[in-house]
Amino acid sequence: MKKSWWMLGVSAVMSVGLLAGCGGDDANQLVSFEVPTEGELGSAIAFPQGSELVEPFNETLNELMESGKMDELVLKWFDAGETEEVDSEETEQADGETTLIMGTSADYPPYESVDLATGEIIGFDIDIAKYITEELGYSLQIEDMDFNALIPAMESGRVDFVLAGMTPTEERKENVDFSDIYYEATNLIVSKESTNLSSLEDLEGLKVGVQLGSIQEEEADELAEEYGFEVVKLNRIPEIMQELQAGRIDAILMEDTVAEGHMAQ
Ligand code: ARG
Repeated sequence: MKKSWWMLGVSAVMSVGLLAGCGGDDANQLVSFEVPTEGELGSAIAFPQGSELVEPFNETLNELMESGKMDELVLKWFDAGETEEVDSEETEQADGETTLIMGTSADYPPYESVDLATGEIIGFDIDIAKYITEELGYSLQIEDMDFNALIPAMESGRVDFVLAGMTPTEERKENVDFSDIYYEATNLIVSKESTNLSSLEDLEGLKVGVQLGSIQEEEADELAEEYGFEVVKLNRIPEIMQELQAGRIDAILMEDTVAEGHMAQ
């Protein structure tokens, strides 16, 4: 397999520190440092257990990665400087196509978010979903919900698959199936510059926000015991950002790629 799409991911990661340094007004400026994660922090497509979609989706996902199209998508969504539209190859929807329902939590740019201008859900994951469903001859319907609700939605069969920057974990694998990993990320502690945080030790006695049901929640719970901070669990990422800006929490444990977008705002 070609490694280039992954490398692009790495350069996106390295630009986080730079972006943190520009824009915003002094005291409220956001900064970050990296938190070593146990195991991998990759994203994969999730399916209800035993779903027949796992194999064809995985094959198409691998085609997407090997053809170099994934590189284009990574450039489009993860390179902050890139504004150019990458051809998404619209194909017309034939009548009578089976519709697959995809669950997502559209609070996670650049993976998925609501385009404020059109109300449409857009992002890296959405382009991947469109590519795969088009290739396989399905039409796609997207259902937005809290991240925490995605696994139950697969278990009850309300959605056919999930693309939500979801990391395959052993615990989740007990209830849902996963494709191969299509993107790798890192966890960061994001805080206001004025809070002066540079290591996990500095978090003692402070409040750290995480998204409910995410692996960041799990990781924060573990770290909290060691470093003596309080974990504040909320449903949507913008909500957590607001709490940080308002000073009701001191830091957020979140993915680098998603943090980057917020720090650049
Ligand atoms: N990668 C993390 C996880 O799987 C967080 C994903 C959050 N995704 C979202 N769309 N809010 O737990």
